[in-house]
Amino acid sequence: MNKTAIFYGSSTGNTESVAKQIAKLLNADVFDVADNPVEELKNYDNLIFGASTWGIGDLQDDWDNYISELENTDLSGKVCAIFGLGDGASYADSFVDGIGTIYKAIENKGCKIAGFVETTGYDYEASTAEIDGKFVGLPLDEDNESNLTNDRIDKWVEQLKAEFK
Ligand SMILES: Cc1cc2nc3c(=O)[nH]c(=O)nc-3n(C[C@H](O)[C@H](O)[C@H](O)COP(=O)(O)O)c2cc1C
Repeated sequence: MNKTAIFYGSSTGNTESVAKQIAKLLNADVFDVADNPVEELKNYDNLIFGASTWGIGDLQDDWDNYISELENTDLSGKVCAIFGLGDGASYADSFVDGIGTIYKAIENKGCKIAGFVETTGYDYEASTAEIDGKFVGLPLDEDNESNLTNDRIDKWVEQLKAEFK
């Protein structure tokens, strides 16, 4: 597989620790979007974006600048994937909306988007990450379903290995 990088934003560390776990499995480099690692995007063939959701459906704060950078970057030829941390019980109507926000930012930027996930098995009401009956990335719920996180990550990583360049 070609070079893979993970770009994440995290407020209390959940997304950060998942980013590092995925990085180990894929031998990927990891960047915190709080450091605005714009130049790094061009150095990788496979890009993974990770974010938690705050407020009611808001993308994690550190993403504020970086999402604009993504919107202004040509991602042609790259394969992109998204994961997101959320809470499907307390925020059932905006579950992992951050995934949906990142998807909107990159969907017309020329990249192939990998890592779609079946909604079956998730407990929530509504999510902007759900498009045509599938999540457009991997949702993880450390607040209510932390016992499922490792298996969900392992399965998704296997899927990415098949879909990445
Ligand atoms: C004030 C507050 C607002 C939140 N809003 C949402 C939300 O709208 N949707 C969601 O899925 N999760 C929401 N969450 C849950 C967080 O996304 C979740 O706890 C996540 O694991 C935090 O990850 P982080 O430590 O990487 O920031 C919220 C949590 C808090 C405390």
